[in-house]
Amino acid sequence: MSTTFTLDSATSRANPTPAPMKRLTVPAILARKTGPEPVTEPVVMLTAYTARMAQLLDPHCDMLLVGDSLGQVIYGLPSTIPVSLEMMCAHGAAVVRGSWHSVVVIDMPFGSYEASPEQAFASAARILKETGAAAVKLEGGAAMAETVAFLVARGIPVVGHVGLTPQAINTLGSYAARGRSDAEAERIVRDATSVADAGAFALVIEGVVEPIAARITREVACPTIGIGASAQCDGQVLVIDDMLGMFERTARFVKRYEDLAVKIGAAAEAYAGEVRARAFPTSAETYAPK
Ligand code: KIV
Repeated sequence: MSTTFTLDSATSRANPTPAPMKRLTVPAILARKTGPEPVTEPVVMLTAYTARMAQLLDPHCDMLLVGDSLGQVIYGLPSTIPVSLEMMCAHGAAVVRGSWHSVVVIDMPFGSYEASPEQAFASAARILKETGAAAVKLEGGAAMAETVAFLVARGIPVVGHVGLTPQAINTLGSYAARGRSDAEAERIVRDATSVADAGAFALVIEGVVEPIAARITREVACPTIGIGASAQCDGQVLVIDDMLGMFERTARFVKRYEDLAVKIGAAAEAYAGEVRARAFPTSAETYAPK
């Protein structure tokens, strides 16, 4: 079903037609695995960073993630480390404005939550207040369990993120898949169960070998959402620009559903050619006097 948008000039809000479904809730996502009538259909999540992209993705997704991957994808930064709370709040608010159906989850940026549960609460509360999103996501395992429990007990739904945790790039040394040794595999499973037991309502598992994802998915109560973590998870997430083919190089786990970089390059080349040849604009694109 395709959705079109009508601009409400009073509010500058683009209203979708047909009218969208009611927004999904955090309990509804959790209940897909733990409810009295569990749903076997996988949870669909994509990243979004702008209002327009949120409008396009929202009808097809259960959850939209405003990932701190926006550091690289939108801002051209070398990693997610420099991403700020201000960036996450600005993009998070845009994605909430552009969506009506999906649960919007916002990444807590590096340095905004690790020091203490109190620091995490202040940052998460600011994110929810300034964006209108339903939940935050934070990276880390057993070391973050106390913080997850602290936030959940105070009304802040949390998505965990274990396995390859990009904010730890300086400790990990690379973005390679994790869990190839028995010791590391055990640690990742322990991280996942700690965060889930602390009250996370969903768990992103990134870049792990398949048996780890399968074991975590069996052992935790909440839905697992994989990225480079096999089809064994309860759902999947991809970075939108990766799956649209906006970059020349992508990780092995990414499937490109489009080749937008090539299409954008071709469109820009055609435009440049027409401008230089004075073939654009024509009378069709020109205002005539009355
Ligand atoms: O920042 C992000 O986009 C993420 C996904 C890779 C899960 O955390």
